[in-house]
Amino acid sequence: MRGIAVYPGSFDPITKGHTAILQSGLVAFEKIIVAVLNNDNKKALFSVAERMDMIRESAVDMGADPKRIDVDSFDGLLVNYAQRRNARVILRGLRAVADFEYELQMANMNRHLNPEVETVFIMANDAYFYVASNLVKEVTRLGGNVADLVPAPVLPRLLAKFDK
Ligand code: PNS
Repeated sequence: MRGIAVYPGSFDPITKGHTAILQSGLVAFEKIIVAVLNNDNKKALFSVAERMDMIRESAVDMGADPKRIDVDSFDGLLVNYAQRRNARVILRGLRAVADFEYELQMANMNRHLNPEVETVFIMANDAYFYVASNLVKEVTRLGGNVADLVPAPVLPRLLAKFDK
């Protein structure tokens, strides 16, 4: 299965859970567009520009071929964005059962909106099963150590946000 996949998300910030999905995604797809949702309603810790920078830096840190990863932002409907970028696949990671219902709902809604775009799931690496951006932020805020859970370029930026 080669081609272009869009890997959408909030990425506030990107975690090692995300980079593991990206790494696995590159086994299946020739090119992955990591697309940061540009949503003014959502209270984010990092600006979209900061999130995109961290994704780019993390891709370099991963040793990924820069020609195969594109970092972008989008607003509006994801399926419309995917179509504009000539991507027929939306890539999502699945962790525990808790993710399932939300992902099933989104995948079906997206299929309803555009049957030409298919959602493909990659199972999260068991090492990062419990890693989520929200938890990483909370643990950092409370002084816990997340050094193993975020890509190296993210850590100093995360610590700086919480004056740690
Ligand atoms: O990392 P997240 O916050 O779980 O990602 C959610 C995301 C960005 C994939 C989802 O909110 C999304 O696709 N938003 C774009 C708006 C849209 O297309 N909504 C209809 C799909 S259900």
